[in-house]
Amino acid sequence: MFEIYKIDTPDQIYSPGLVIFEEVLRENLAQMKEIAGDPQRLRPHCKTHKMIDIIRLEVDMGILKHKCATFAEAEMLALAGAQEVTLAYNPVGPNIDRAVQFRLRHPDIQFSVTADHPDPLKALDAAMGNAKTDIDVLLDINPGLDRTGLKPGDQAAEIYALINSLPNLRPVGFHVYDGHNHQTPLNERKAAVDDIWSTVRAFRDELKRDSFCVPKIIAGGTGTFPLYAQLDDPSIELSPGTCVFHDAGYSRIFPDLPFTPAALILTRVISRPSANCVTFDLGHKACAADPPAGQRLEFPSIPDAREVLQNEEHLVIETAKAANYRPGDSELAIPTHICPTSALHTHAWVIQRGRVSTKWEVTARHR
Ligand SMILES: Cc1ncc(COP(=O)(O)O)c(C=O)c1O
Repeated sequence: MFEIYKIDTPDQIYSPGLVIFEEVLRENLAQMKEIAGDPQRLRPHCKTHKMIDIIRLEVDMGILKHKCATFAEAEMLALAGAQEVTLAYNPVGPNIDRAVQFRLRHPDIQFSVTADHPDPLKALDAAMGNAKTDIDVLLDINPGLDRTGLKPGDQAAEIYALINSLPNLRPVGFHVYDGHNHQTPLNERKAAVDDIWSTVRAFRDELKRDSFCVPKIIAGGTGTFPLYAQLDDPSIELSPGTCVFHDAGYSRIFPDLPFTPAALILTRVISRPSANCVTFDLGHKACAADPPAGQRLEFPSIPDAREVLQNEEHLVIETAKAANYRPGDSELAIPTHICPTSALHTHAWVIQRGRVSTKWEVTARHR
């Protein structure tokens, strides 16, 4: 554990700094590709890192289909050479015009968006028609996360028929994100995926019997894409995101997965306020605050670290080893949730064979 996270030159890194261990990152990407079996089956979500340099690595590996949640991410994907971009975020309001602008700017990219309601669909169709262009649309299915989408059934079939009937929209299948499937026992996670798949497949087959075209089903996140990958259906595309960096949260929840955290935070001791406490320059402006306080970080070399206070720029931990620390000492911490963490940084220091090799911009952190 400690060897892979060795940095010979920590003084080159301002803290709190996002650091990427490139060998670990490349291994995660290789594992993701191997699990998918074929890069054509992958459509990874770039929200985890938002970095053009990582998209370029993926494109070099033959991963040409990508998923995103914002137009800044979509533009980054286009710039990095993605051939297909799915904005897995139902466009509404002014984002409908941004979808038009994206289509006009990148006519050679196969661009799709998700939808689950007639009003934005009609507005999208009209806007595309006014601009004399068109767009691919995925029906957003709600597989139980209850965040967006419709359950397979009559209402969902009506929306699919509407997409099919509007002249400037093309129905291209389903988007099925099951981010609630966080079962640690693999057999329970597999049962949940099988359950979703049997409902979604039956719905797809019904639409096909009614002569609709349903060419793709984009499914899964880090915890479930290996299970969707085992299903033998040519329409399936896999959309993990977090596994590219991985994090402490998913390492705990999904011990069966072959991924290792690749993006950590380098932090420094700034004070020793009491006998058993150490204060680091690692507040919640540098690490995601969506895990509850006290559960936001793991220190690989301080296994007994207990987060007792985190403010905007400060983290106080309690440890039996507190007396060993002096102001200026550096440590590495693994975020529990890496995706919002990377978005808090403007760039990351890239570590290759223990040395800082370059800096990568967090390209799409602006919305
Ligand atoms: C729509 C969508 N697809 C894919 C993913 C990737 O999932 P994970 O982070 O579990 O890999 C996410 C993550 O939030 C998501 O919101």
